[in-house]
Amino acid sequence: AQNGALKNQRVLITAGGTREALDPVRFLTNRSSGKMGYALAQAAAEAGASVQLITTINRNVAYSVKTIMVESTQEMYDQVMSHVPDSDIFISAAAVADYRPAQKADQKIKKTDDNNMTINLVKNPDILAEVGRHKRQQYVVGFAAETQDLLAYADAKLKTKGADMLVANDVSRSDIGFSSDDNQVVVLTASHEPQYLPVQSKLDTARAIIQLIAKEYN
Ligand code: C5P
Repeated sequence: AQNGALKNQRVLITAGGTREALDPVRFLTNRSSGKMGYALAQAAAEAGASVQLITTINRNVAYSVKTIMVESTQEMYDQVMSHVPDSDIFISAAAVADYRPAQKADQKIKKTDDNNMTINLVKNPDILAEVGRHKRQQYVVGFAAETQDLLAYADAKLKTKGADMLVANDVSRSDIGFSSDDNQVVVLTASHEPQYLPVQSKLDTARAIIQLIAKEYN
C-alpha cells in the first residue's frame, strides 16, 4: 500500500550481517538474512521516502532504493557516517559483528601441526551508538535480538545507544526472527508503553514500524 507518511524524508537503513575477514578467503559472520532491512527499505519507499540502503547482502527490491554494498563493520560504519548527515531517519537493522579478527592475514592461513588455534578479536565500532551520540535532527531506530529478558535489555539499549525507538524480537523462537519470513516485534520508545505487533510477514512488520516511525517523527 502506497502512502505519503514519509514523503520528502530521507531514510538511511543498514541491512545484513557484517563479514569480518580472517584472511583473503575466510571470514566470521552471523545468520542475518538481510530480509528485515530490505523489508524496511521497501516499506519506507512505499511511504514516499527516498531510501539509502547500506547492506552486506544483495536482494531484489521492488521500489527505487539506492544501495551500497559493504562487507565489514568498518566499511558499514564509514558509509553510514558519510550518509547520516544527509538523512532524516536512521534505521539500524544490520546484524553488526561486535568483534573482528585483530589482524587480517595477507595470505591464506596455513594448517600447522598444532591442534589448537587462537583467533584474537578486537572490538568493532558500535555504529548505532555512534549515530545516537552525534545525531542532530535525525530520528534514530535500533533493533535488539535477544534470547532472554527481552524488554529489560531492549529498554537498556534504547538509552545506552541514544536511540529514539528500539524494535526488539525474541530470537530464541524458531518461528520468527532471523531467516524466517515472519516476525513478531515489540516497539519501545521513551514516551510510550511497549507496543506489541502481531506475528506477520517481515514486510507487514516493516510497514507497521515505518508507520510508527512516521507518527513519532512528524
Ligand atoms: O548491542 P546489540 O548488538 O544487541 O544492539 C543491536 C543494535 O545495535 C542493532 O540496531 C544493530 O544494528 C546495532 N549495532 C551497531 N553496531 C554494532 C553493534 C550493534 O550498529 N557494532
